[in-house]
Amino acid sequence: MNDLTIAEKASLTSGASLWTTKTVDRVGLPSITLSDGPHGVRRQIVGGDHLGIGQSIPATCMPPAVALGSSWDADLLRGVGAALGTEARSLGVQVLLGPGINIKRSPLCGRNFEYLSEDPLVSGVLGAALVDGLQSRGVGAALKHFAANNQETNRLRVSAEVDERTLREIYLAGFEHVVRHARPWTVMCAYNKVNGEYASQNHWLLTEVLREEWGFDGLVMSDWGAVDDRVAGVRAGLDLEMPTSGGITDAQLVEAVRDGRLDPELLDLAARRVIALVERAREAQPDAVRPAPAGASRFPHAGTPAFTKAYADAQAGGGVAIAVEGAEEHHRLAREVAGQCAVLLKNDGVLPLTPSASVAVVGELARTPRYQGAGSSQIIPTRLDDALTELRALARTDLPFAPGYRLDGGEPDQALLDEARAVAEAADVTVVFLGLPEGEESEGYDRTHLDLPAGQRAVLDAVTATATRTVVVLSNGGVVAVSEWDANVAAILEGWLLGQAGGGAVADILFGVVNPSGRLAETIPLRLEDTPSYLNFPGDPDEVRYGEGVFVGYRYHDAVNGEVSYPFGHGLSYTSFAYSDLAVSVRGTDEEIEVEVAALVTNTGGRHGREVAQLYVSAPSATVRRPVRELRGFTKVALEPGESAEVRFTLTYRDFSFFDVVGGRWVAEPGTARVHVGASSRDLRLSAEVTLDVAGRRPVLTPDSPLGDWFADAAGRTALLGWMREPSRFLTDDYVKTIGSIPLSRLARFPGSKIDPDGLDELAARVRDDRP
Ligand code: BGC
Repeated sequence: MNDLTIAEKASLTSGASLWTTKTVDRVGLPSITLSDGPHGVRRQIVGGDHLGIGQSIPATCMPPAVALGSSWDADLLRGVGAALGTEARSLGVQVLLGPGINIKRSPLCGRNFEYLSEDPLVSGVLGAALVDGLQSRGVGAALKHFAANNQETNRLRVSAEVDERTLREIYLAGFEHVVRHARPWTVMCAYNKVNGEYASQNHWLLTEVLREEWGFDGLVMSDWGAVDDRVAGVRAGLDLEMPTSGGITDAQLVEAVRDGRLDPELLDLAARRVIALVERAREAQPDAVRPAPAGASRFPHAGTPAFTKAYADAQAGGGVAIAVEGAEEHHRLAREVAGQCAVLLKNDGVLPLTPSASVAVVGELARTPRYQGAGSSQIIPTRLDDALTELRALARTDLPFAPGYRLDGGEPDQALLDEARAVAEAADVTVVFLGLPEGEESEGYDRTHLDLPAGQRAVLDAVTATATRTVVVLSNGGVVAVSEWDANVAAILEGWLLGQAGGGAVADILFGVVNPSGRLAETIPLRLEDTPSYLNFPGDPDEVRYGEGVFVGYRYHDAVNGEVSYPFGHGLSYTSFAYSDLAVSVRGTDEEIEVEVAALVTNTGGRHGREVAQLYVSAPSATVRRPVRELRGFTKVALEPGESAEVRFTLTYRDFSFFDVVGGRWVAEPGTARVHVGASSRDLRLSAEVTLDVAGRRPVLTPDSPLGDWFADAAGRTALLGWMREPSRFLTDDYVKTIGSIPLSRLARFPGSKIDPDGLDELAARVRDDRP
């Protein structure tokens, strides 16, 4: 650092290209490569872009986040992270741009396929596991998009207007979990503004919350093009602007230091963090991260053999051979993972199919899979399995197929409909593949409705009008409404987007080779109009108001006791599970309180299966309106028929708390809480009461505090009554209730007041000083 000039420091804190940091050859500082992410490695070779359009080297396309979230399985995500790390490393990538853990505020968000859940605990725990796995291979994560990036509409200018409690409890909580538990190398700030200030120059977010409160010790980079005012960014705690700005904003930094607008120490801090990241990467990948040899290509560390070969192939004008390490093994892993992610929403017993059953397959998506979303996360898979081929491989009979609809046109096509009806009529069971065609959801824009294309609906209606039993398999990155046709079908498998081996995983589940164990990480509403952000999504061009507050997803549906198609946490299995032996014990008081919860889960059916035991807490609250219950723990257990396993959870003070904006801290209030263990937010099997021995919220009393606050505080009440002239009339509760909202200082000025206005400061100070 001491050897660097101001200009060199400034230049270090922005990218050299779309995907690399700068070198400082004079001091032997190499550059590192960053690459999208998150569900595969998008290592670009020629003509880069950040929107998934340009070519990239084939790599394993794991199930995207929408599917991974439904696994509710941290170990599984750790394994996915490790595989991604191996591939990234073999392609000379030091930071993979993911995971994305933004909350699914509305089912309409075009990028929901890249996010894990509507719940911060699911996002946080699974996000942390993925980061763990990735970083265990010496590849850094970029936790994104920090923060409140919950829509694509106007994403580069809109201000997410969110109250602090909602931010803390919903939109920041997942990030906090990952930062505290998995220590990601980097965090990527979001495009949008948060409460009027760009995330890229938001000091409160990037420095006060992220670093000072959560202890983040890595680097903050911008999303690609998220920098508005670079100087303000560095002041706020933004370390690296990506991609390159062609030197324009570097010069602005130098000028700001020279004319005193930017403290040189802040520039030093950012440059130091870039160097620290490069050093971290060099330690983890010594062969790849080294100063470029003289005359090297523009990829300074094309040092890995795999990348060099792919690069040479591309330069030679031929196709790029699969060069990534572990491709075969990772394809198998991708199939196994996908099998744990798909969610069986409904099953009247038609599934699993027997290999000799008379089955027809309908739907273009069976043959032309949709397996990932569009935009920056889009990668070139090493292979692609389609469900039709995989189903035929597992069936012992011929499986007739009719495409039913075209993916490029939404409207019904009579000839295709007739053909579909004919194959369905001849089969006992018809598996209909439906979903969202590629153009219906993408990074860059949001959806406007939850419906399937009309042509697909028409095929489904044609099939269900026959005598066949209908199984629907869905391929969609964001939720689609099922309520209009749900009752007409025998089973629904929500396949989300399952990655390159998803076709095989779907076949495994339909034929019972794999017992489905995915659970919904987001609610499937009856109608779009039922969703909590309906009236405030996507807001105005410049501003979106998070009017639903903390009531996001099931927190809303459960609070209004509204009917949904399938609740958060729901998912069926081919076996059944029973819950018993709930045991709850409490240790400690106040912030030291710990509640141990244990329960027994038993596989009561006839097959091996996996159950996700979910722990919800209903906490008492006198101060603020809180969700009816919130997920505070989950664990996935694998059980043989007849086998039982104990699931255990430890709840802490924070698990019973809300964020008290006045006091600026987490507060659990005294009273009776309930803990529930069950199989979804609407399928609570066991519950018990817990008495919380905690102090609750303690407003700091000042002369301007309302009378009600003084009376609600035991010490404040005693002190005030002792100090009033004729306190007696204040002793009736109704009177205090009526005037309780009036600040003490104003009450004291009323004619005939019994409160002496002089000395209120002293009284307040006395109460504060007497506190333990
Ligand atoms: C996306 C990021 C991505 C970056 C680089 C941006 O448009 O929001 O998620 O990592 O581009 O491609």
